[in-house]
Amino acid sequence: MLVYLDCDPGIDDALALGYLLAHPDVELALIGSVSGNTDAATAAANARDLLELFGHPEIPVAVGRTDFLSHPYSGGAPHVHGNNGIGGVQLPGGAAPFAPGSAAEELVGLARSRPGELHVLAIGPLTNLAVALEIDPELASLVADVVVMGGAALAPGNVTAAAEANIHNDPEAAAAVFAAGWDVTLVPLDATMFQRFEQGDLDALLAGGPRAAALGRMLETYYAFYTQHFGRPSSALHDPLAAAVLTGEAVVSRASRVPVVVDTGDGPGRGQTIAELRGRYRPVAPEHPEGVRVVFDIADPFAPQLLARLLAL
Ligand code: BDR
Ligand code: CA
Repeated sequence: MLVYLDCDPGIDDALALGYLLAHPDVELALIGSVSGNTDAATAAANARDLLELFGHPEIPVAVGRTDFLSHPYSGGAPHVHGNNGIGGVQLPGGAAPFAPGSAAEELVGLARSRPGELHVLAIGPLTNLAVALEIDPELASLVADVVVMGGAALAPGNVTAAAEANIHNDPEAAAAVFAAGWDVTLVPLDATMFQRFEQGDLDALLAGGPRAAALGRMLETYYAFYTQHFGRPSSALHDPLAAAVLTGEAVVSRASRVPVVVDTGDGPGRGQTIAELRGRYRPVAPEHPEGVRVVFDIADPFAPQLLARLLAL
């Protein structure tokens, strides 16, 4: 499958990138960076350095928007992802030049050149996708489908009581993406918070080859953050789980296709993803063909599959 990856590496973004490169069915055509965990320029440099580490310097990286649709970027999440977005790990720098266009422009060009073929995976704020929809109003009809890591349907948020980080960073962009009429699957905290790497997974990565070990060193920072939440060294697998929902390797056991609106107000609910789930009170919940497919659960633990792929990098 032909894939465009929009990302803000980001420690779990790095895991997702490694996963995609290790998956034999994925042809990663282009990476776009966006601000989120760090600024878009640093995220692009991290993506390029990760591609070099993983032996794929030929895959183009396009730099995306620094600022969000309605407000400027204001510093990312160094307390979660370290000062450079990848846990302070210094990678040998890749030398490949960035793509000439912005991430949004390059996405539009790629979708136009391969109509109907492109699968979009967005694991950061949705700014680039919203800008791409503005550039080309036909984009939604040119893309096969869109998988987004973000939001919280019935679960609590992670940056506020109501909102998840990717959506909270740019709620206006998320609202535009959910309303664009393309086939969107949302992989929210309801699913991702319960798919985790534990201490044994980290130890295995650190004892693996140089690529796996570098990911392990990044994860040490992520584990330090998640220890505060989970009470033991471990990490949620947000972005790689979304990647595996895209490939089909993570089998979805519970999902609803329903309208999802994003709170773009300035109150405490800003960035909340409000899913129309009242149908669940009926014996058979109705599906909304025009809605967003919201993933709630995965059939089996995903960590073993992810670990095996990363160790084979
Ligand atoms: C999401 O926010 C980012 O910090 C992670 O990379 C992931 O995409 C989780 O809320
Ligand atoms: Ca991310």
